Amino acid sequence: MKAYIDQLAAGMMPESRELEELLRTEDEEILAYLYAQARKVREKHYGRDVYIRGLIEFTDYCRNNCYYCGLRRDNRKAERYRLSEQEIMECAQEGYFLGFRTFVLQGGEDAGYGCERIEALVRMLKERFPDCAVTLSVGEHSEKTYRRWREAGADRYLLRHETADPAHYRRLHPQELSWERRMECLHTLKRLGYQVGCGFMVGSPGHETGHLVKELLFLRRFRPHMVGLGPFIPHKDTPFGGAPAGTLLMTLKCLALVRLILPDVLLPATTALGTIAENGTVLGMQAGANVVMPNLSPVYARRKYMLYDGKAVSGSEAAEGLQLLKERMEAAGYRVAVSRGDWKGEKNDV
Ligand code: 5AD
Ligand code: SF4
Repeated sequence: MKAYIDQLAAGMMPESRELEELLRTEDEEILAYLYAQARKVREKHYGRDVYIRGLIEFTDYCRNNCYYCGLRRDNRKAERYRLSEQEIMECAQEGYFLGFRTFVLQGGEDAGYGCERIEALVRMLKERFPDCAVTLSVGEHSEKTYRRWREAGADRYLLRHETADPAHYRRLHPQELSWERRMECLHTLKRLGYQVGCGFMVGSPGHETGHLVKELLFLRRFRPHMVGLGPFIPHKDTPFGGAPAGTLLMTLKCLALVRLILPDVLLPATTALGTIAENGTVLGMQAGANVVMPNLSPVYARRKYMLYDGKAVSGSEAAEGLQLLKERMEAAGYRVAVSRGDWKGEKNDV
């Protein structure tokens, strides 16, 4: 299997059978080799820099009803909030001061924050912080809306595809949501010139090893600039409240394989990974990740933005914990960079 890892690291097209074998292995020596090769590829493209993104969770209202998510519209127990423009600008100001040069505006699909309001917000952020990148992560919208936000200055867009398998997508979402529409949105975003991030949950209900193979093959075909992946974690007030969480091991394997398959991808060690394991962020880096997204939202908002139970809201997951993050990264041989942290690949097809 080591020879196969070498071939992947050298850019060979991945094959289902071998990927499945790697995803199933628990052989310590093979795993150590996999992570070491992933680190090598990461270092070739990004050195030992860790890119940080200031995450602003600005609304937890959502019109959707995804079965796995604590913000789903049928969850009456979720405490809903919406940050004002002023609060958002204050978060960004604080973030800028701390050294963040990318702001990620993340929220549910909230009619209270429509096309125009977000457009104005993007303009305000780009005007006040011209040396910063603005990333949007606010779900599915029309091409027209995506275009307006792009023209207002948005640089990047995160929209996880959640699963590469349409039948599995139906198991995770109600009828009104469709995998095909999701894919269409992702292609539209790429065509409009965004740096695009997709991604999936590891070990969501019904997500077997065979699905993970599909995720990797899909990523290789779609070639996103970023990939957000983390373990599924149940939320008690959702239909999947009793389902088991995805594992640390499988998440780390997926990170390493994504790094080998898409060598120059921007790959965060996600909050979900930091939630299932205390040292999840460092372990993620050691498996090939190169991005961390600390939370810049006001503390009252973070506690409400509960996608899953136990979501980490403090320590190195939080912007004011940046010093702790820096120390942890330095102890592991990495360096937190003060930069926009753009994608470093060659311009690719759309
Ligand atoms: N566990 C892990 N990740 C989740 N997300 C939503 N609910 C959960 C959960 N229970 C992720 C989804 C979504 C993003 C906003 O958060 O992948 O795209
Ligand atoms: Fe809404 Fe996103 Fe949660 Fe689905 S996953 S309910 S779209 S916030």
